[in-house]
Amino acid sequence: MSQQAQLIDGKAFAANLRQTIAEQTKAIEAQHNIRPGLAVILVGEDPASQVYVRNKEKFALECGFKSETFRLPAETTQEELLTLIQNLNEDQSIHGILVQLPLPKNLNEEEILNSINPLKDVDGFHPMNIGQLSIGQPYLIPCTPLGSLLLLQDKLGKDLSGKHAVIVGRSNIVGKPMMQLLLSQNCTVTIAHSRTKDVAALCREADIVVAAVGVPKLIKGDWIKKGATVIDVGINRIEENGKTRLVGDVDFDEAIKNAAFITPVPGGVGPMTIACLLRNTLTAMCLQNKIEDPNKL
Ligand code: GUN
Repeated sequence: MSQQAQLIDGKAFAANLRQTIAEQTKAIEAQHNIRPGLAVILVGEDPASQVYVRNKEKFALECGFKSETFRLPAETTQEELLTLIQNLNEDQSIHGILVQLPLPKNLNEEEILNSINPLKDVDGFHPMNIGQLSIGQPYLIPCTPLGSLLLLQDKLGKDLSGKHAVIVGRSNIVGKPMMQLLLSQNCTVTIAHSRTKDVAALCREADIVVAAVGVPKLIKGDWIKKGATVIDVGINRIEENGKTRLVGDVDFDEAIKNAAFITPVPGGVGPMTIACLLRNTLTAMCLQNKIEDPNKL
């Protein structure tokens, strides 16, 4: 019998990280009399977004943050949203601004995201944050890639030098920043995408596979090298036997037979995103107030 992979418990890791952030927040408040402020903007009524935003608010308050949520109607104009962001950019008590995506179609997402002060851009989506990450001097790092790296380092150790990481997916939110992060950790990085020839053969070479394409069970079990680590960023809702359930981009039941470590879906990378948003908000407050960040990578 081959040994099964060890599960990477992102839910427990995220809960621990939130606890750490809460303790750091308390200590910094005692010393500097300042606490992190997070503003979340939700436009429209997308049900999944409403759940995310509620969780962000709940966990921010649990960490001792100031939390402000702006729930705006779907008819909100570009100018109204830009004005709100401008006001939050100037508000000294707000250190992080997050605009929940997707935005209604009538709004120009790029212009909205670019209007956020990069030092308050806790999603790490602003071109300046992308640029800083790409030159190896990050300010604010996109939450899902950051959470994925923290899980990897927890299992494999801080030093990932020389490991071959294959990232499947080239999105601006996950694939590309993940590439930069793993490069900064001295991994050899390959990005595979929809036009890549023989993704299976590439994955079989990988010490680390990061799956972020949004295609249910695309990555088969026999694509995973014995002893590799698998980070599954996908969250796909599928119909099975008349029920809906969540699955990742990896065929988990098969991959677990080859991997050394693997993230489940749900309960793997998912919970890390909000925990890293809180981590980023604390980092943003430190950057804006020239306080040493307790959470450098
Ligand atoms: N919608 C789904 N995930 C995210 C995220 O990480 N950030 C933002 N802003 N919107 C999202």
